[in-house]
Amino acid sequence: MHCLVTGAAGYIGSHTVRELLARGATRIVAVDSLERGHRRAIEALERLAPGKVRFARIDVRDRAAMSALMREERPESVLHFAALTLVGESVRQPAAYWSCSAGGTASLLEAMRDAGTERLVFSSTAATYGIPQSMPITEDTPQQPCNPYGSAKLACETMIAEEAEAARRDGRAFGAILLRYFNVAGCASDGSLGEDHDPETHLVPSALQAALGARPALEIFGTDYPTPDGTCIRDYVHVEDLASAHVDALRALRPRECRAFNVGIGHGFSVREVLDACERAVGRPIPANVAPRREGDPPELRSDPARIMRELGWSPRHRTLAPMVESAWRWMQANPRGYDDR
Ligand SMILES: NC(=O)c1ccc[n+]([C@@H]2O[C@H](COP(=O)([O-])OP(=O)(O)OC[C@H]3O[C@@H](n4cnc5c(N)ncnc54)[C@H](O)[C@@H]3O)[C@@H](O)[C@H]2O)c1
Repeated sequence: MHCLVTGAAGYIGSHTVRELLARGATRIVAVDSLERGHRRAIEALERLAPGKVRFARIDVRDRAAMSALMREERPESVLHFAALTLVGESVRQPAAYWSCSAGGTASLLEAMRDAGTERLVFSSTAATYGIPQSMPITEDTPQQPCNPYGSAKLACETMIAEEAEAARRDGRAFGAILLRYFNVAGCASDGSLGEDHDPETHLVPSALQAALGARPALEIFGTDYPTPDGTCIRDYVHVEDLASAHVDALRALRPRECRAFNVGIGHGFSVREVLDACERAVGRPIPANVAPRREGDPPELRSDPARIMRELGWSPRHRTLAPMVESAWRWMQANPRGYDDR
Protein backbone atom coordinates (compact mmCIF):
# COMPACT_ATOMS: atom_id res chain seq x y z
CA MET A 1 0.00 0.00 0.00
CA HIS A 2 1.31 3.41 -1.03
CA CYS A 3 -1.09 6.06 0.26
CA LEU A 4 -1.29 9.82 0.35
CA VAL A 5 -3.00 11.01 3.53
CA THR A 6 -4.19 14.62 3.88
CA GLY A 7 -4.64 15.98 7.40
CA ALA A 8 -2.09 13.38 8.55
CA ALA A 9 -0.85 15.58 11.40
CA GLY A 10 -4.35 15.74 12.90
CA TYR A 11 -6.06 13.47 15.40
CA ILE A 12 -7.81 10.91 13.18
CA GLY A 13 -5.39 11.22 10.24
CA SER A 14 -2.34 10.40 12.39
CA HIS A 15 -4.06 7.41 14.02
CA THR A 16 -5.05 6.14 10.58
CA VAL A 17 -1.49 6.45 9.28
CA ARG A 18 -0.36 4.35 12.25
CA GLU A 19 -2.98 1.71 11.40
CA LEU A 20 -2.03 1.74 7.70
CA LEU A 21 1.62 1.14 8.65
CA ALA A 22 0.64 -1.63 11.05
CA ARG A 23 -1.35 -3.31 8.29
CA GLY A 24 1.35 -3.33 5.66
CA ALA A 25 1.60 0.14 4.08
CA THR A 26 4.98 0.48 2.41
CA ARG A 27 4.93 4.25 1.95
CA ILE A 28 2.85 7.09 3.34
CA VAL A 29 2.89 10.60 1.93
CA ALA A 30 1.62 12.67 4.85
CA VAL A 31 0.22 16.03 3.74
CA ASP A 32 -0.78 18.73 6.21
CA SER A 33 -0.73 22.53 6.31
CA LEU A 34 -0.14 22.29 10.09
CA GLU A 35 -2.86 24.93 10.46
CA ARG A 36 -4.41 22.76 13.16
CA GLY A 37 -2.22 19.64 13.24
CA HIS A 38 1.02 18.72 14.95
CA ARG A 39 4.54 18.24 13.60
CA ARG A 40 5.15 16.05 16.67
CA ALA A 41 2.42 13.63 15.56
CA ILE A 42 4.28 13.24 12.26
CA GLU A 43 7.56 12.75 14.15
CA ALA A 44 5.92 9.99 16.22
CA LEU A 45 4.84 8.26 12.98
CA GLU A 46 8.33 8.65 11.51
CA ARG A 47 9.72 6.95 14.63
CA LEU A 48 7.21 4.08 14.32
CA ALA A 49 8.17 3.38 10.71
CA PRO A 50 11.56 4.86 9.84
CA GLY A 51 11.92 5.67 6.14
CA LYS A 52 8.28 4.94 5.27
CA VAL A 53 6.69 8.33 6.00
CA ARG A 54 7.32 11.42 3.87
CA PHE A 55 5.89 14.65 5.26
CA ALA A 56 4.85 17.45 2.91
CA ARG A 57 3.65 20.75 4.40
CA ILE A 58 1.08 21.75 1.79
CA ASP A 59 -2.36 23.33 1.86
CA VAL A 60 -4.60 20.93 -0.10
CA ARG A 61 -6.14 23.93 -1.85
CA ASP A 62 -2.76 24.49 -3.57
CA ARG A 63 -3.58 22.44 -6.62
CA ALA A 64 -0.19 22.98 -8.32
CA ALA A 65 1.70 21.74 -5.27
CA MET A 66 -0.68 18.79 -4.76
CA SER A 67 -0.48 17.86 -8.42
CA ALA A 68 3.33 18.01 -8.46
CA LEU A 69 3.52 15.87 -5.30
CA MET A 70 1.07 13.29 -6.66
CA ARG A 71 2.80 13.10 -10.04
CA GLU A 72 6.11 12.53 -8.27
CA GLU A 73 4.80 9.98 -5.76
CA ARG A 74 2.04 8.24 -7.80
CA PRO A 75 0.22 6.93 -4.68
CA GLU A 76 -2.31 4.13 -5.24
CA SER A 77 -4.85 5.67 -2.89
CA VAL A 78 -5.72 8.90 -1.13
CA LEU A 79 -7.29 9.27 2.31
CA HIS A 80 -8.65 12.80 2.74
CA PHE A 81 -8.96 14.01 6.34
CA ALA A 82 -7.83 17.64 5.96
CA ALA A 83 -10.59 20.03 7.03
CA LEU A 84 -11.56 22.59 9.61
CA THR A 85 -13.73 20.79 12.13
CA LEU A 86 -15.33 23.17 14.63
CA VAL A 87 -19.10 23.46 14.21
CA GLY A 88 -19.36 26.75 16.17
CA GLU A 89 -16.51 28.33 14.19
CA SER A 90 -18.21 27.24 10.95
CA VAL A 91 -21.34 29.17 11.96
CA ARG A 92 -19.24 32.31 12.47
CA GLN A 93 -17.01 31.82 9.39
CA PRO A 94 -18.95 29.81 6.77
CA ALA A 95 -16.76 30.84 3.82
CA ALA A 96 -13.61 29.56 5.56
CA TYR A 97 -15.29 26.17 5.99
CA TRP A 98 -16.52 26.02 2.39
CA SER A 99 -13.08 27.06 1.14
CA CYS A 100 -11.25 24.42 3.17
CA SER A 101 -13.71 21.53 2.70
CA ALA A 102 -15.18 22.10 -0.75
CA GLY A 103 -12.21 24.05 -2.15
CA GLY A 104 -9.75 21.53 -0.71
CA THR A 105 -11.65 18.54 -2.04
CA ALA A 106 -12.01 20.06 -5.53
CA SER A 107 -8.27 20.76 -5.65
CA LEU A 108 -7.49 17.24 -4.45
CA LEU A 109 -9.80 15.60 -7.02
CA GLU A 110 -8.17 17.58 -9.82
CA ALA A 111 -4.68 16.69 -8.60
CA MET A 112 -5.73 13.03 -8.43
CA ARG A 113 -6.90 13.26 -12.05
CA ASP A 114 -3.60 14.87 -13.04
CA ALA A 115 -1.65 12.01 -11.49
CA GLY A 116 -4.00 9.18 -12.46
CA THR A 117 -4.71 8.26 -8.82
CA GLU A 118 -8.15 6.64 -8.80
CA ARG A 119 -8.93 5.56 -5.21
CA LEU A 120 -10.26 7.89 -2.51
CA VAL A 121 -11.51 7.44 1.05
CA PHE A 122 -13.17 10.60 2.37
CA SER A 123 -13.77 11.73 5.98
CA SER A 124 -17.40 12.71 6.17
CA THR A 125 -19.53 13.19 9.22
CA ALA A 126 -22.84 12.48 10.91
CA ALA A 127 -23.27 16.29 10.81
CA THR A 128 -24.42 15.84 7.19
CA TYR A 129 -27.66 14.31 8.59
CA GLY A 130 -28.50 17.41 10.65
CA ILE A 131 -31.30 16.71 13.13
CA PRO A 132 -32.90 13.46 11.96
CA GLN A 133 -36.52 12.63 12.63
CA SER A 134 -35.83 9.04 13.67
CA MET A 135 -33.12 6.91 15.28
CA PRO A 136 -30.93 5.06 14.53
CA ILE A 137 -29.45 6.90 11.55
CA THR A 138 -28.96 4.76 8.44
CA GLU A 139 -27.12 5.82 5.29
CA ASP A 140 -30.55 6.41 3.72
CA THR A 141 -31.63 8.90 6.39
CA PRO A 142 -32.13 12.24 4.57
CA GLN A 143 -29.05 14.46 4.71
CA GLN A 144 -30.16 17.89 5.92
CA PRO A 145 -27.18 19.54 7.59
CA CYS A 146 -27.94 22.36 9.99
CA ASN A 147 -24.59 24.19 10.03
CA PRO A 148 -21.91 25.24 7.49
CA TYR A 149 -19.52 22.50 8.67
CA GLY A 150 -22.10 19.85 7.72
CA SER A 151 -23.26 21.62 4.52
CA ALA A 152 -19.69 21.93 3.22
CA LYS A 153 -19.01 18.24 3.98
CA LEU A 154 -22.21 17.27 2.14
CA ALA A 155 -21.03 19.35 -0.84
CA CYS A 156 -17.78 17.33 -0.82
CA GLU A 157 -19.77 14.08 -0.80
CA THR A 158 -21.78 15.29 -3.81
CA MET A 159 -18.63 16.34 -5.65
CA ILE A 160 -16.98 12.96 -5.07
CA ALA A 161 -20.12 11.04 -6.11
CA GLU A 162 -20.32 13.13 -9.31
CA GLU A 163 -16.65 12.40 -10.02
CA ALA A 164 -17.43 8.66 -9.76
CA GLU A 165 -20.41 9.13 -12.12
CA ALA A 166 -18.16 10.90 -14.62
CA ALA A 167 -15.64 8.06 -14.30
CA ARG A 168 -18.42 5.57 -15.14
CA ARG A 169 -19.28 7.54 -18.27
CA ASP A 170 -15.65 8.08 -19.32
CA GLY A 171 -14.42 4.58 -18.51
CA ARG A 172 -11.95 5.84 -15.87
CA ALA A 173 -11.35 3.74 -12.77
CA PHE A 174 -12.02 6.43 -10.13
CA GLY A 175 -13.89 5.06 -7.11
CA ALA A 176 -14.51 6.35 -3.59
CA ILE A 177 -15.81 5.47 -0.16
CA LEU A 178 -17.35 8.12 2.07
CA LEU A 179 -17.09 7.36 5.79
CA ARG A 180 -19.58 9.28 7.92
CA TYR A 181 -18.07 9.28 11.41
CA PHE A 182 -20.15 9.71 14.53
CA ASN A 183 -18.28 10.86 17.70
CA VAL A 184 -14.66 9.80 17.94
CA ALA A 185 -12.72 9.28 21.18
CA GLY A 186 -9.64 7.61 22.63
CA CYS A 187 -5.97 7.47 21.70
CA ALA A 188 -3.43 4.97 20.39
CA SER A 189 -3.18 2.08 22.85
CA ASP A 190 0.66 2.27 22.86
CA GLY A 191 0.56 5.94 23.90
CA SER A 192 2.34 7.06 20.71
CA LEU A 193 -0.39 9.45 19.51
CA GLY A 194 -3.10 11.52 21.12
CA GLU A 195 -5.86 14.07 20.70
CA ASP A 196 -4.81 17.73 20.91
CA HIS A 197 -7.26 20.28 19.51
CA ASP A 198 -7.17 23.99 20.29
CA PRO A 199 -9.76 24.86 21.35
CA GLU A 200 -10.84 21.42 22.52
CA THR A 201 -14.57 20.99 22.06
CA HIS A 202 -14.88 17.19 22.23
CA LEU A 203 -16.46 15.79 25.37
CA VAL A 204 -13.91 13.18 26.51
CA PRO A 205 -10.77 15.37 26.34
CA SER A 206 -12.73 18.34 27.74
CA ALA A 207 -13.78 16.29 30.79
CA LEU A 208 -10.22 15.01 31.23
CA GLN A 209 -8.83 18.55 30.95
CA ALA A 210 -11.18 19.52 33.79
CA ALA A 211 -9.81 16.57 35.79
CA LEU A 212 -6.26 17.77 35.12
CA GLY A 213 -7.12 21.37 36.12
CA ALA A 214 -6.42 22.57 32.57
CA ARG A 215 -9.94 24.03 32.46
CA PRO A 216 -12.00 25.06 35.48
CA ALA A 217 -14.89 22.62 34.89
CA LEU A 218 -16.69 20.60 32.25
CA GLU A 219 -19.74 22.37 30.89
CA ILE A 220 -22.78 20.14 30.43
CA PHE A 221 -24.95 21.79 27.79
CA GLY A 222 -28.53 21.02 28.82
CA THR A 223 -29.92 18.55 31.36
CA ASP A 224 -33.56 18.80 30.27
CA TYR A 225 -33.49 16.73 27.07
CA PRO A 226 -36.03 13.92 26.61
CA THR A 227 -33.40 11.26 27.44
CA PRO A 228 -33.22 8.99 30.54
CA ASP A 229 -30.84 11.30 32.46
CA GLY A 230 -31.73 14.54 30.63
CA THR A 231 -28.35 14.93 28.85
CA CYS A 232 -27.61 14.42 25.15
CA ILE A 233 -26.82 10.96 23.80
CA ARG A 234 -24.09 10.38 21.19
CA ASP A 235 -22.52 7.33 19.52
CA TYR A 236 -18.77 7.10 20.30
CA VAL A 237 -16.31 5.09 18.25
CA HIS A 238 -12.73 4.38 19.41
CA VAL A 239 -10.25 6.17 17.13
CA GLU A 240 -8.37 2.89 16.59
CA ASP A 241 -11.58 1.21 15.37
CA LEU A 242 -12.25 4.19 13.11
CA ALA A 243 -8.69 3.98 11.74
CA SER A 244 -9.24 0.32 11.04
CA ALA A 245 -12.46 1.12 9.12
CA HIS A 246 -10.30 3.15 6.70
CA VAL A 247 -8.07 0.18 5.93
CA ASP A 248 -11.17 -2.00 5.44
CA ALA A 249 -12.57 0.70 3.13
CA LEU A 250 -9.38 0.81 1.07
CA ARG A 251 -9.54 -2.95 0.62
CA ALA A 252 -13.22 -2.88 -0.41
CA LEU A 253 -13.04 0.16 -2.69
CA ARG A 254 -14.36 -0.52 -6.19
CA PRO A 255 -13.70 1.45 -9.41
CA ARG A 256 -16.48 3.72 -10.71
CA GLU A 257 -18.49 3.43 -7.48
CA CYS A 258 -19.06 5.84 -4.64
CA ARG A 259 -20.41 4.16 -1.50
CA ALA A 260 -21.20 5.80 1.85
CA PHE A 261 -20.98 4.14 5.26
CA ASN A 262 -21.77 5.23 8.78
CA VAL A 263 -19.02 4.56 11.31
CA GLY A 264 -20.33 4.29 14.85
CA ILE A 265 -20.90 1.44 17.28
CA GLY A 266 -24.68 1.65 17.06
CA HIS A 267 -25.08 2.43 20.75
CA GLY A 268 -25.37 5.80 22.43
CA PHE A 269 -23.94 7.13 25.69
CA SER A 270 -25.23 10.21 27.48
CA VAL A 271 -23.03 13.12 28.55
CA ARG A 272 -23.47 12.03 32.17
CA GLU A 273 -22.43 8.47 31.31
CA VAL A 274 -19.30 9.80 29.61
CA LEU A 275 -18.54 11.98 32.63
CA ASP A 276 -19.02 8.96 34.95
CA ALA A 277 -16.65 6.88 32.78
CA CYS A 278 -14.07 9.69 32.92
CA GLU A 279 -14.39 9.92 36.71
CA ARG A 280 -13.84 6.15 36.98
CA ALA A 281 -10.73 6.37 34.78
CA VAL A 282 -9.35 9.32 36.73
CA GLY A 283 -10.37 7.93 40.14
CA ARG A 284 -11.93 11.12 41.46
CA PRO A 285 -14.86 13.49 40.82
CA ILE A 286 -14.50 15.91 37.90
CA PRO A 287 -15.82 19.47 38.36
CA ALA A 288 -18.82 20.06 36.08
CA ASN A 289 -21.32 22.89 35.60
CA VAL A 290 -24.71 22.77 33.96
CA ALA A 291 -24.97 25.28 31.10
CA PRO A 292 -27.92 26.09 28.80
CA ARG A 293 -28.59 23.88 25.76
CA ARG A 294 -26.57 24.70 22.63
CA GLU A 295 -28.67 25.66 19.65
CA GLY A 296 -29.03 22.84 17.14
CA ASP A 297 -27.96 20.04 19.52
CA PRO A 298 -30.38 17.14 18.98
CA PRO A 299 -31.19 14.96 22.02
CA GLU A 300 -29.81 11.80 20.44
CA LEU A 301 -27.55 10.86 17.51
CA ARG A 302 -26.97 7.14 17.09
CA SER A 303 -25.77 5.26 14.03
CA ASP A 304 -27.00 2.09 12.45
CA PRO A 305 -23.65 0.55 11.44
CA ALA A 306 -25.20 -2.53 9.77
CA ARG A 307 -24.08 -1.58 6.27
CA ILE A 308 -20.36 -1.17 7.06
CA MET A 309 -20.42 -4.40 9.06
CA ARG A 310 -22.10 -6.28 6.23
CA GLU A 311 -20.32 -4.81 3.20
CA LEU A 312 -16.83 -4.08 4.56
CA GLY A 313 -16.71 -6.72 7.31
CA TRP A 314 -15.81 -3.98 9.83
CA SER A 315 -16.66 -4.47 13.45
CA PRO A 316 -15.57 -2.29 16.39
CA ARG A 317 -13.25 -3.98 18.90
CA HIS A 318 -14.35 -1.50 21.58
CA ARG A 319 -18.03 -1.20 22.46
CA THR A 320 -17.73 0.46 25.85
CA LEU A 321 -16.49 3.84 26.98
CA ALA A 322 -13.77 2.53 29.31
CA PRO A 323 -11.05 1.80 26.71
CA MET A 324 -11.69 5.14 24.95
CA VAL A 325 -11.55 7.15 28.14
CA GLU A 326 -8.66 5.23 29.70
CA SER A 327 -6.41 5.52 26.62
CA ALA A 328 -7.22 9.25 26.38
CA TRP A 329 -6.40 9.72 30.09
CA ARG A 330 -3.10 7.83 29.80
CA TRP A 331 -2.03 10.07 26.91
CA MET A 332 -3.12 13.22 28.67
CA GLN A 333 -1.24 12.32 31.85
CA ALA A 334 1.91 11.60 29.85
CA ASN A 335 1.40 14.77 27.75
CA PRO A 336 -0.36 17.34 29.97
CA ARG A 337 0.45 20.11 27.46
CA GLY A 338 -0.60 17.96 24.48
CA TYR A 339 1.97 17.82 21.68
CA ASP A 340 3.30 21.15 22.98
CA ASP A 341 4.63 22.15 19.55
CA ARG A 342 2.97 25.53 18.97
N1 LIG B 1 -13.04 14.30 15.46
C1 LIG B 1 -14.30 13.92 15.21
O1 LIG B 1 -15.03 13.57 16.15
C2 LIG B 1 -14.83 13.90 13.78
C3 LIG B 1 -16.17 13.50 13.58
C4 LIG B 1 -16.66 13.46 12.28
C5 LIG B 1 -15.84 13.79 11.20
N2 LIG B 1 -14.55 14.21 11.44
C6 LIG B 1 -13.73 14.56 10.26
O2 LIG B 1 -12.50 13.85 10.35
C7 LIG B 1 -11.44 14.62 9.78
C8 LIG B 1 -10.30 14.71 10.77
O3 LIG B 1 -10.76 15.31 12.00
P1 LIG B 1 -9.79 15.49 13.24
O4 LIG B 1 -10.61 15.46 14.47
O5 LIG B 1 -8.64 14.58 13.10
O6 LIG B 1 -9.33 17.01 13.00
P2 LIG B 1 -7.90 17.67 13.21
O7 LIG B 1 -8.10 19.14 13.23
O8 LIG B 1 -7.18 17.04 14.34
O9 LIG B 1 -7.15 17.27 11.85
C9 LIG B 1 -7.36 17.93 10.64
C10 LIG B 1 -6.00 18.18 10.02
O10 LIG B 1 -6.18 18.78 8.72
C11 LIG B 1 -5.20 19.80 8.59
N3 LIG B 1 -5.72 20.77 7.63
C12 LIG B 1 -6.78 21.61 7.77
N4 LIG B 1 -6.95 22.32 6.65
C13 LIG B 1 -5.99 21.94 5.78
C14 LIG B 1 -5.66 22.30 4.46
N5 LIG B 1 -6.38 23.22 3.80
N6 LIG B 1 -4.62 21.69 3.86
C15 LIG B 1 -3.88 20.75 4.51
N7 LIG B 1 -4.16 20.36 5.77
C16 LIG B 1 -5.20 20.95 6.40
C17 LIG B 1 -5.02 20.38 9.97
O11 LIG B 1 -3.77 21.06 10.11
C18 LIG B 1 -5.13 19.13 10.84
O12 LIG B 1 -3.86 18.53 11.04
C19 LIG B 1 -12.04 15.96 9.41
O13 LIG B 1 -12.32 15.95 8.02
C20 LIG B 1 -13.32 16.01 10.21
O14 LIG B 1 -14.30 16.80 9.58
C21 LIG B 1 -14.03 14.27 12.70
